[in-house]
Amino acid sequence: MSEDPLANKHQAWSALFSEPMSALVQRYTASVGFDRRLAAADIAGSLAHAEMLQAQGILTAQDLADIRRGMAGIEDEIASGRFDWKPELEDVHLNIEARLTALVGDAGKRLHTGRSRNDQVATDIRLWLRGECDRLAALLAQMQGALVELAAQHSETVMPGFTHLQVAQPVSFAHHLLAYVEMFARDGERLADLRRRVNRLPLGAAALAGTSWPLDRERVARTLGFEGLCRNSLDAVSDRDFALEFAAFASICMVHVSRLAEEIVLWMSQSFGFVDLADRYCTGSSIMPQKRNPDVAELARGKSGRVIGHLTGLLVLMKGQPLAYNKDNQEDKEPLFDSVDTLADTLRIMTEMVGGMRVRADAMERAALRGYATATDLADYLARKGVPFRDAHETVAAAVKTALARGVDLAELTLAELQGFDPRIDADVFELLTLRGSLNARALAGGTAPAQVRAEIERHRARLAAD
Ligand code: ARG
Repeated sequence: MSEDPLANKHQAWSALFSEPMSALVQRYTASVGFDRRLAAADIAGSLAHAEMLQAQGILTAQDLADIRRGMAGIEDEIASGRFDWKPELEDVHLNIEARLTALVGDAGKRLHTGRSRNDQVATDIRLWLRGECDRLAALLAQMQGALVELAAQHSETVMPGFTHLQVAQPVSFAHHLLAYVEMFARDGERLADLRRRVNRLPLGAAALAGTSWPLDRERVARTLGFEGLCRNSLDAVSDRDFALEFAAFASICMVHVSRLAEEIVLWMSQSFGFVDLADRYCTGSSIMPQKRNPDVAELARGKSGRVIGHLTGLLVLMKGQPLAYNKDNQEDKEPLFDSVDTLADTLRIMTEMVGGMRVRADAMERAALRGYATATDLADYLARKGVPFRDAHETVAAAVKTALARGVDLAELTLAELQGFDPRIDADVFELLTLRGSLNARALAGGTAPAQVRAEIERHRARLAAD
């Protein structure tokens, strides 16, 4: 017998075939170039399966010991880069099984009892994705932490809040940052929720119908830390809705990142000048010597496109498939891998960048003063004095028009001038017309008043510390 029991065959699976696969078909169908990334999950799944087979009396203690020894050797070979991945063995599963058999003989050939690559691959992806969910949850928490700590320095830093990108009302920079913390916190909730559905065991479904072997699925689930079983064998091997949910989560999260990135690009432009990024996150221009471009933020914005594309790709991949397993499903891996990698790298780099951002509080404040951001406060003031709000709105519009013509802020009009618009205006109005007065007035839950924002910062700190 040659060292590799599969070496003399055309391919891994059967003596039924009478001619070898063409090189093009082999290249077209092989997945080992990318699914080798599932190797650790594949080995963990196989060891749990083997341990259960032995407990059920299907494998001997010697078989199990051989399988464990062989798998330990394979893990070493993979870790040290010595493992010889063979495209002719198609995928990660057949590569590892062939190597196991080469190392330990018949025990390796017995491992696949009561199992199919169909339930095996579904198990592997779920195991792998579960680990990635946990890694991403930590990165999401770090992103939030960086935003919360930056916010903690800026509960009194006033900036213009915008609607339609026109100056609307003053908000604190901290309040603006905490809006993103809320978004990322919901992303974290989505991730934790979908993880529960990722974390169910397909093994035991075999090819599609279950198996005649007396497997103990509960035992395998416990060994691998799955929260439950996939309860229908056809569904277990064929559906990838857990991957769709993950891709949807990743897309939403990337959209949140993209909006933040877009704001950073705007804030850094000369027209805003609200923030400055450290040089290490910028690049120069090959022709314009003065340029410092926020490439990292732009790429974070741009990379949302590929992750959203992966969600679309996966949805289309699934939509026409009849039950149960089809080879189409092999196409689930690359979009999933790339979504994980893109999101992880993007979160990491944005966390660093936000942490190192220099904030130009004076520029923010100047911008807030330019746009009559306290006009609503004046209208509210008049409404509190009994003027119907719609009339107050008109009166203030006239006052803004006058101030605009004179090139001054509302707070710079004299009391007499203001009283010309409505005699009910008193000297106490000036407190409200300042940016800080406007901020302080919004002290209800969810508002931008500094005291309120500081309480939110503490709530987020406690939440993130408890995770
Ligand atoms: N590489 C395959 C995949 O990723 C494994 C399952 C193949 N099963 C089969 N019967 N061809 O989906």
